Amino acid sequence: MDSNTENAEDADEEGVQDPRTPSLPTSVSSVSSVVKFCSSRAAAVTVLVVLTSMAGCRRPAPVKQPMSLSHKRHMEADMKCLTCHPGSEEQALAQFPTVADCMDCHGKARGNSPDEPKVRDYAQRGQEIPWVRVDKLPGHVYFSHATHVTLAKMKCEDCHEGILAATQVLTLPDVHQTMEDCMRCHKERNASNQCKTCHK
Ligand code: HEC
Ligand code: HEC
Ligand code: HEC
Ligand code: HEC
Ligand code: HEC
Repeated sequence: MDSNTENAEDADEEGVQDPRTPSLPTSVSSVSSVVKFCSSRAAAVTVLVVLTSMAGCRRPAPVKQPMSLSHKRHMEADMKCLTCHPGSEEQALAQFPTVADCMDCHGKARGNSPDEPKVRDYAQRGQEIPWVRVDKLPGHVYFSHATHVTLAKMKCEDCHEGILAATQVLTLPDVHQTMEDCMRCHKERNASNQCKTCHK
């Protein structure tokens, strides 16, 4: 690993720390901040223990991904989010890339990452790469990518800013949108903040 890569990783670590990490919750409406806090990689362990006992929340365990992938490296190659997450602007859920999407560029060897040949291994076995989804709101919340990206004309990076600097595959959530974050923008943009808009 050269020193550039190391610097990039340091920068990444800073990039994933959420500057809006909330302070102690003071009301019921900020219970969701606790959830956000618990999933924050920057959470201090002692405070977390106190919060955990207060709100019964758990820090999610990091998932194991099938291979490495640097968003940063690919974005530097001038790629668009939609090249690998096709259709995300038209549906509620954003989509993951198929191995065929990867093979457009990795049909032949590229670079010297030890994981890069795995793309062709999966393709030859006729298997999809089993990426594990990490960004997931609780089941009682309704969220649609189509509404925000197509109707409200938002950019992917508006909500997923951490991803641009990610040199490692994601094992913990990238978006930490609390109810307060959602409602702040809804207020600014005159979108509905009625409970039933977001809660099923
Ligand atoms: C538009 C072309 C393009 C597509 C599509 C593409 N890649 Fe890449 N990929 C690149 C380039 C360029 C590099 C940098 C190669 C180098 O290091 O010289 C790269 C590097 C990599 C590497 C090594 C660096 C890293 O990111 O860890 C991996 C692994 C990789 N790609 C996996 C994938 C996977 C998996 C997909 C499909 C989800 C994919 N790529 C889709 C162009 C592409
Ligand atoms: C080279 C293809 C590629 C490009 C370009 C790309 N992604 Fe990804 N993305 C992936 C793959 C593969 C995964 C699954 C592995 C992981 O989590 O890192 C992923 C995961 C994610 C996740 C986490 C999803 C989850 O819950 O597990 C988000 C969010 C995301 N990408 C957003 C973006 C955004 C926003 C852009 C543009 C700034 C972008 N991606 C560009 C391939 C790509
Ligand atoms: C308004 C904020 C916002 C915008 C804009 C946004 N996302 Fe997301 N994204 C989220 C949230 C919130 C989740 C978790 C969704 C859930 O659990 O239903 C998510 C989840 C994801 C996931 C994981 C799979 C899934 O759908 O749950 C991927 C991949 C992703 N987003 C990619 C993108 C891409 C690509 C774009 C641009 C086309 C984009 N996002 C735009 C907020 C946003
Ligand atoms: C940066 C601004 C912004 C953020 C952040 C944001 N929204 Fe929105 N949202 C909007 C706008 C603008 C609309 C109205 C879109 C329209 O109808 O033109 C909207 C509409 C909606 C709708 C109603 C339309 C539909 O899909 O049925 C829901 C539900 C919603 N948002 C959920 C959420 C949730 C949940 C979050 C947080 C995870 C969130 N939004 C974060 C701007 C935002
Ligand atoms: C703009 C979208 C939006 C609106 C409007 C909204 N919520 Fe939420 N709410 C969320 C999101 C997103 C979460 C999950 C936050 C998280 O996981 O950090 C949440 C979480 C909650 C929770 C916490 C449950 C838990 O997971 O711990 C409660 C309680 C709640 N909402 C009640 C309400 C009530 C009552 C209203 C109406 C006054 C309301 N919400 C309006 C988006 C919204």
